[in-house]
Amino acid sequence: MERLPHKLQLKLSERLTNGSMRSLKKGGDLIDFSSNDYLGLAGKKMINEATTAILKERNLNENGATGSRLLTGNHILYKELEDFLALYHNSKTALVFNSGYDANIGFFSSVPQRGDIILYDELVHASIRDGIKMSNAKSYKFKHNDLKNLGEKISLSLRAQSRSKDSEIYIVTESVFSMDGDSPDIKALADFCAKNGCYLVIDEAHATGIFGDGKDLVCQLGLEEKVFARIITFGKALGSHGAVVLGSHDLKTYLVNFARSLIYTTALSPHTVASVLSAYQYLETSSSADRLELKENIKYFKEQIQFLNLNGGFIESNSAIHSLIIPRNERVKQVSKNLQSEGFDVKPILSPTVKAGQERLRFCLHSYNTKEEISRVLSITRNLIK
Ligand SMILES: Cc1ncc(COP(=O)(O)O)c(C=O)c1O
Repeated sequence: MERLPHKLQLKLSERLTNGSMRSLKKGGDLIDFSSNDYLGLAGKKMINEATTAILKERNLNENGATGSRLLTGNHILYKELEDFLALYHNSKTALVFNSGYDANIGFFSSVPQRGDIILYDELVHASIRDGIKMSNAKSYKFKHNDLKNLGEKISLSLRAQSRSKDSEIYIVTESVFSMDGDSPDIKALADFCAKNGCYLVIDEAHATGIFGDGKDLVCQLGLEEKVFARIITFGKALGSHGAVVLGSHDLKTYLVNFARSLIYTTALSPHTVASVLSAYQYLETSSSADRLELKENIKYFKEQIQFLNLNGGFIESNSAIHSLIIPRNERVKQVSKNLQSEGFDVKPILSPTVKAGQERLRFCLHSYNTKEEISRVLSITRNLIK
């Protein structure tokens, strides 16, 4: 049937009117300032070859997992990967999900219960918000990276809902924010949670593989014991696909029993799990040069924005993500389009993905960007926004 229901047509026209229509574009060969492949692992031949070797050694020939993890899909590589991940990220256990999106909706829809309270940073990723929407707990957002506001919101939420003896408070944030590239004070959050008996949950998608000698930011800070759960994704610096929830034995058992996005879906194929395993083996043994290059590029990028007097427009960040605020969808799209015609892939981030007025160009930096590419993309950007 051709006809789209009227209400849907209206929503699409609204997108057209406010310049936020999305469409799928084919990948190009522009200079990459937009992928999440921060260390270039997605294209590493060594990892590809190691994946094939793992499958061959274990005689794993199936193209697919053949079922969910609770039925026929829990092939031997899952245990190998989960044992590795628990050790590598210094966690009691690890539970692999099909994606970061699945891990977040599975965790947040099943863990916080009716009568519990969830406090989440206003800028957390859509997958966390979607999971929270599916939960029976009450949720409140707090101002971005603002511990004082978090304290106020807790008092307000407790006043709105008298806390019974068994109601729990979950505090949710990201260690590196996907749109701003900045980080909360995780140590202060962990202390706050310990003092107030709250459960701290941290999405480490954009810190994984980069901070903590290739582990994550919680590991770098030595706070593993103080965090209730960490969500690590494999689609960013690992250059692969999937995700893991790190936490206690009881948490893992609970999720295996109640996280619907783990239970009711076909498991990852042996090939995907082998590719995650080999990406991690590479990360552990061979990635320090890639990380150093990325670190140097981040430093150089920051020096250049200072030199070009662009620093006022950029959100302060020490990660691989650097955002330059350029308000209005049409304007930021035009700047991105002009950069593309100069050979640079820098994506515009539009409202409603970010708040209106906070539209931006998001530069993702990589180990494989050259200094020349960085200075050129920034000086062209400066000329475009002058
Ligand atoms: C902070 C954060 N969490 C979770 C996800 C979802 O991860 P995945 O792409 O593996 O579904 C993303 C990716 O976009 C993200 O940026």
